[in-house]
Amino acid sequence: MLQGELPYDEAEADILLTCGNTDGFSKVIGALGTRGDTMLVEEFSYTIAVMMTAPFGIGTVPIKLDAYGMLAEGKGGLRDVLENWDEIKMGRSPHFMYTVTVGQNPTGATLRKQRRQEIYDLCDMFDIIIIEDTPYWNLQYTEASHDIQSGKEVKYPFLAALEKGYLTNDTSGRVIRLDTFSKTIAPGCRLGWITTQKKVIEGVLIAATESSTQQPSGFVQAMVSELLCRSWGMDGWVTWLESLRDVYEERMKLMAGILGHGREIVNVSSSSDFEMVTKTKFYTFYPPDGGMFIWVHILITSHPAYAEFLERGNSKADMMEKLWSWGAITQMSLPSPGGIFAGHECCKEKADEYLRFCFAAIELDEVKSATERWVQGIHEFWELEAGEIEKIGEEEVVGGRKGKLEIGFSSLHL
Ligand SMILES: Cc1ncc(COP(=O)(O)O)c(C=O)c1O
Repeated sequence: MLQGELPYDEAEADILLTCGNTDGFSKVIGALGTRGDTMLVEEFSYTIAVMMTAPFGIGTVPIKLDAYGMLAEGKGGLRDVLENWDEIKMGRSPHFMYTVTVGQNPTGATLRKQRRQEIYDLCDMFDIIIIEDTPYWNLQYTEASHDIQSGKEVKYPFLAALEKGYLTNDTSGRVIRLDTFSKTIAPGCRLGWITTQKKVIEGVLIAATESSTQQPSGFVQAMVSELLCRSWGMDGWVTWLESLRDVYEERMKLMAGILGHGREIVNVSSSSDFEMVTKTKFYTFYPPDGGMFIWVHILITSHPAYAEFLERGNSKADMMEKLWSWGAITQMSLPSPGGIFAGHECCKEKADEYLRFCFAAIELDEVKSATERWVQGIHEFWELEAGEIEKIGEEEVVGGRKGKLEIGFSSLHL
């Protein structure tokens, strides 16, 4: 297995082709979930996966995250949630989890070995099935993932250095891993695969496929297999994955550098007796350890007009929406609003304080100019008064800029 060794006999594992990870996830929850179930998710999670649970009558239960992914321990971590589950108040205890372990969407976090084992052990103890969605597996930016040692015993040093997924911990056969060609060949090829125990594939997932999409397009399968098996071969494929990582990493570093530079400004005011230096901090973020996104926490409550904006009957979410609109109208830069990544309604208020920036979809020079424009925009936004902020998105002139916002959230890259 290219993604690491299985702890059980490989003959017991199998793969099933899907039309990408969204399709794979839908088949898995369709097969495993029952109306009234709850699914464990990261508190900020992939919007589409969270949205997809509702039609199945399945709720979500958020688990806290930090810069390294889902928390195993501590308040709001997995152990805390599972040990304090109250079936009377909260319904049936969860029996499956959806998690994005590498380059998490939206936070960019990558789960490390030790915490992965801790979470796996908890899942084992509470009998939780792990649905691991890994579209960004080869896009890892940690130091360890660059620690490539070529040696005779490792065929692909690039792959060997990457952080592994839950399948490598799977001593009790509870992991269902979703992979896709969407991020490595093209989203439009709609081709991916599920790796899990043969019994799960034969028992439920083949039926879920036969009764819905059937096999993914044979035409696409032929093209991808021609590319991987004959044209490039496995060596060419791995070289391609490594160069993709390098391209995206360069874009990430450029964006993170510009965001880092613009996150605060130093103000110096002087009188005849003294000089006063103050700092205005606009946002914070961690450079991501993988994936395609930077998750930026806007310090919106420290905006000088925040209190007055609220006194005028607006909310924090309104102010974040105005900031988002300001960036779109005056700077033509369009991060995704954080609220859409809430793993559950109860995380929405916290998620609303974030914006998610995608550095993967545009070339290096555009990453530079779009990020610089957005930074310039937030500095200007901090100078606006409450009344001016209220007018953003209307036809009136605000701070010398005019424009009505016509871009909907549906145009965002999720
Ligand atoms: C975490 C996650 N899962 C799945 C997908 C979509 O994958 P696919 O195109 O294979 O359905 C995305 C795309 O943005 C994603 O971020």
